[in-house]
Amino acid sequence: MVGLGPKPPLPRKGTGTLDNLPKDLKKEIEHLERLFTVDGAKLKEITDHFVNELEKGLSVQGGSIPMNPTWVMSFPDGNETGTYLALDMGGTNLRVCQVTLTETKSEFDIIQSKYRMPEELKTGDAEELWEYIADCLMQFIETHHGDPTKLDKLPLGFTFSYPATQNYIDEGILQRWTKGFDIAGVEGHNVVPMFEAALQRRGVPIKLTALINDTTGTLIASAYTDPKMRIGCIFGTGCNAAYMENCGSIPKLAHMNLPPDMPMAINCEWGAFDNEHKVLPRTPYDVIIDKDSPRPGQQSFEKMVAGLYLGEIFRLVLVDLHDNQEIKIFAGQDIAKLRKAYSLDSSFLSAIEEDPFENLSETADLFQSKLGLKPTAPELELIRRTAELIGTRAARLSACGVAAISKKKGYKECHVGADGSVFNKYPNFKARGAQALREILDWPEKADPKEDDPIEILAAEDGSGVGAALIAALTMQRIKQGNMHGILHPENFKTTEPLPA
Ligand code: BGC
Repeated sequence: MVGLGPKPPLPRKGTGTLDNLPKDLKKEIEHLERLFTVDGAKLKEITDHFVNELEKGLSVQGGSIPMNPTWVMSFPDGNETGTYLALDMGGTNLRVCQVTLTETKSEFDIIQSKYRMPEELKTGDAEELWEYIADCLMQFIETHHGDPTKLDKLPLGFTFSYPATQNYIDEGILQRWTKGFDIAGVEGHNVVPMFEAALQRRGVPIKLTALINDTTGTLIASAYTDPKMRIGCIFGTGCNAAYMENCGSIPKLAHMNLPPDMPMAINCEWGAFDNEHKVLPRTPYDVIIDKDSPRPGQQSFEKMVAGLYLGEIFRLVLVDLHDNQEIKIFAGQDIAKLRKAYSLDSSFLSAIEEDPFENLSETADLFQSKLGLKPTAPELELIRRTAELIGTRAARLSACGVAAISKKKGYKECHVGADGSVFNKYPNFKARGAQALREILDWPEKADPKEDDPIEILAAEDGSGVGAALIAALTMQRIKQGNMHGILHPENFKTTEPLPA
C-alpha cells in the first residue's frame, strides 16, 4: 500500500478557539481585545462627535476636519462626452490615463499606464517630484500620440490626493502632506504652478484643467453609473470621503453669495477627525505611530484606519509583546527584521486573516519567509487574533465617517462608492463595515439575508481616471452655462474636441 504521507492541514472554522492557549497568552489576547474592540455604544458616540466636527469644518471659524470646497458643482447625468488625460498621484503609484467619455450614455473608454512612485521621492526634493511626474506624462504622450512638439495642448485632470485649499478648481494650495509624504517647500503653496513649470521645462504639451481629490473623483465617477450614489470614499493607503453639500450650508463660503441650492462637492479630509483626541479610543500603539510620523498631531483618524498604518500597528504590538509584556513571544529568536518600522504593510495582515488552515500554516510560512521567525502554535493564534482585532477596528471606525455624513445630510437610503486597497483587498472589511453601520444607525435585523442594507458601501468606479475626466467635462459644461465660480483659467477648459488618436 502506498504511504499516506503527512496529513493535509485542516481548513479553519470561524475565528478558531483560544480555549487551549497557555494562560498568560490568553490573558494577553484578552488585554488586546479590550484595547482594540470598539463596541456599538462607542461607535455611536464617535459618530455623533463626527457629525459636529463635519459642521465645524464648514463654519467660518473652522475645525480639525478641513471640509474643502472643491468647485465640483454638479453630478454627471451620463451624457458627458470628450477625451481627457488624467494623472493620478496617489500614495503608491503614479497613473496616467486617457479617458474618452463616449456618446453612449454613461460609457467610457480608457487607456492607462502605471509608473512606480519611487519611495525616495516621497521624502525627497520637490523639484525631483515634479520632474519625475513630467517625465511619466511625456512618456505616455510619446507612446500614445507620437511627436509631442506637433500636438496642441491636451487637457488634464490632476488627481492630487492630499488636503488642498482650492479657491479655484484649477488651484491647490497644499495644506499638509499625508500618507508619509514629506517634501519640503510644498506645504502652504499652490502646487499647480510648480507642476506646470516642470511640464514647460520638458515641453510636455498639457494644460491642467482641474485639480481633484481622489474622493471627489470617486463620488463623481460612481454617480455617473449609479444615480443613488451620494458619498465617495477611499479606504486605501489613506482614508477620506467626499459628498455633495448645498452652498447655503457652507458658512465659510457665505461671503461669495453663491445660490444656496447650488451643489458643491466637499472633500472632507476626514483623516484629520479627532486630532484633539476627544473621542477615538487610541491605544499606546496609536500614540507611537503618531509620535514617530512625519506629522505628529495630524491625521489622527487616518492613522487608526488607513492601510499605510495597519501593518505598523500590528508590528508595534508584536514587538511590545516580545520586549515588554510577561509572555515574551518569539522567545530566544532574533526579531531584528520585525524591528524595522513600516516593514509590514496591510497586505501582510490580509494574508494572515486569509490563512485558511486550522493550524495557520500559511501564517507560519509568512513569518518564516518575511521575518525569519518561527512562532509557536499558541503564538500563531495570538497573531491571527491581533490581525483580526486591528482589521475589525479599522472597518468599524471607518463606518463612523460614513454614518456621520449620512446623518448630517439626513440620508436614510443611499449608495456609497468606495475604492482603495483596504476596501478592495482586505478580507471582511466590507462585511465588518456594514455590520458597524447597522449598529450605529439602528437598522432592524434583515428578514432575508440577501436584502440590501439601506445605506450600502459598494465598489466605486475609477475616480482618479474617469472621475477626473468627468470633472473636467462638467466644469466645461458649467463655464458654457455661465457659472464661472471657482475658475481661474477658463481658457484651460476650452478643448472639447476629441484628442488625436
Ligand atoms: C489624503 C486625502 C486622500 C486620502 C485617500 C489622505 O491621506 O489627505 O486627500 O483623499 O488620503 O487617498
